Amino acid sequence: MAKEEGYRSRAAYKLKQMDERFHFFRGARYVLDIGAAPGGWLQVVSEAVGEDGLVVGVDLRPIEYLELGNVETIVGDILDEEIMDEIRELLPGSVDVVLSDLSPNISGVWDVDQFRQIDLATMALKVSQALLRRDGWFVVKVFMGSEYEAYLKEVKAAYRKVNIVKPMASRKGSAEVYLVARYLRRRRRAR
Ligand SMILES: C[S@@+](CC[C@H](N)C(=O)[O-])C[C@H]1O[C@@H](n2cnc3c(N)ncnc32)[C@H](O)[C@@H]1O
Repeated sequence: MAKEEGYRSRAAYKLKQMDERFHFFRGARYVLDIGAAPGGWLQVVSEAVGEDGLVVGVDLRPIEYLELGNVETIVGDILDEEIMDEIRELLPGSVDVVLSDLSPNISGVWDVDQFRQIDLATMALKVSQALLRRDGWFVVKVFMGSEYEAYLKEVKAAYRKVNIVKPMASRKGSAEVYLVARYLRRRRRAR
């Protein structure tokens, strides 16, 4: 279905379904998408924010050019401190939505994979706290392993409202959920 409708990933539908429920792109202008390759979410956000908006995608892997005027991409590692400078060069001081669909390269060893994934999600949380406007939205994928509860607690400590979502478009039996968080309690100076 994703290919037929011109989206680069089936993940695009997960984002659309979540937005239909929460409307996090309503009125949004500036969006950061972390772990953005191959670019399905970027396509969805590009449509949602319109010509005056801007979405910046970051990924370790280069994102093939999308031919969309309101999309910029950065090739880089979100775990690398200097990436924040690059992001800040493109986005204003205060961002409306931070998205993270970050997944590590899957090793097949569940414990290893979920630890790595939580590390990535933890970095996404810090980035969101440094960049989001107070009533902005943070949407993050999380693998539901042994570290999940602790991570959920961290997100709840950072945001007043946190929803746990399993999009219909997720593969059946997959151990991933998305947290949709809003109302930052306190902004971080740096991540
Ligand atoms: C599930 S894919 C994202 C799919 C995307 N939302 C879409 O719709 O096309 C997860 C991405 O996270 C990226 N990733 C993993 N570790 C990363 C890191 N440390 N920094 C930046 N990107 C990373 C991977 O390269 C991969 O492209």
